[in-house]
Amino acid sequence: MIDTDTHLYCIFGNPIRHSKSPVIHNACFQQYQINAIYLAFEIDEISKGIAAIRSLNIKGASVTIPFKESIINHLDWIDEDALNIGAVNTVVNQDGKLSGFNTDYKAAIDPLKPFGLANKRICIIGAGGAAQAVAYGIHREKGDLVIINRNKEKGKNLALKYKADFIPMDEVNKMDNINADIIINTTSIGMYPDIENSAFPSTHMHSKMVVMDIIYNPLKTKLLSYALKKGCTTIDGLSMFIHQGAAQFKIWTGISPDIKLMRKALIKGDN
Ligand code: ATR
Repeated sequence: MIDTDTHLYCIFGNPIRHSKSPVIHNACFQQYQINAIYLAFEIDEISKGIAAIRSLNIKGASVTIPFKESIINHLDWIDEDALNIGAVNTVVNQDGKLSGFNTDYKAAIDPLKPFGLANKRICIIGAGGAAQAVAYGIHREKGDLVIINRNKEKGKNLALKYKADFIPMDEVNKMDNINADIIINTTSIGMYPDIENSAFPSTHMHSKMVVMDIIYNPLKTKLLSYALKKGCTTIDGLSMFIHQGAAQFKIWTGISPDIKLMRKALIKGDN
């Protein structure tokens, strides 16, 4: 029941209409009988979101494109991981003190952990904001990182930060063997409407490889359909999305939510 005791949580972003965050968080508030509601707000400046958190006593907020970096200067305290990555996607309001966290990197790593990351050769495709968080997570787990990117300077810089190898994207096709155990696409290649393209060629895939895509629109990207045909293990983009949301929910409420419940709520919301 929504009443005067109901706590407000939200997401700030622009654009925000296609966000599925309200679906997973509201399903969890209901499941764990927490008197709270989660709404989506499209804002044009992060300072307005910060003002709203303070004036409306919003208890927690998710932050998405394009505010993950710019919000940092508005917060009272930043978690060390978020500082190292340079991006915040989660805000907690504790009696007016606003703290920032990054749950993206754990989200990318959690679904991969069962396959073991230490000393595995792991290729990240891309060098943008998402790649930064993923690379940080893999580095912490002692994975042997390789960065593949179109823009050489950006790719080399990310590789340098984590003592990783760098392969320019246009070199990948010319290579005999890339020798990767895990491939993670963090670019928008393959995302609707670019659904016919794959960020990585199937010629370098083999059945022992794990292939992960952070895109969830469509769920079965060209990259993942190539990977399935080659007998690889695949991890779709909903996985990272759900895990970053689950980690946010834990930060806000102390409860580790049921991942299956979140996935079910998303599938139901699509029907
Ligand atoms: P995000 O914060 O979501 O990661 P971003 O910072 O804009 O978004 O980064 C997008 C990444 O996808 C970049 O690494 C970009 O490559 P460049 O560094 O060369 O720009 C990559 N990317 C996007 N579209 C691409 C395409 N069509 N071909 C190759 N790389 C692409």
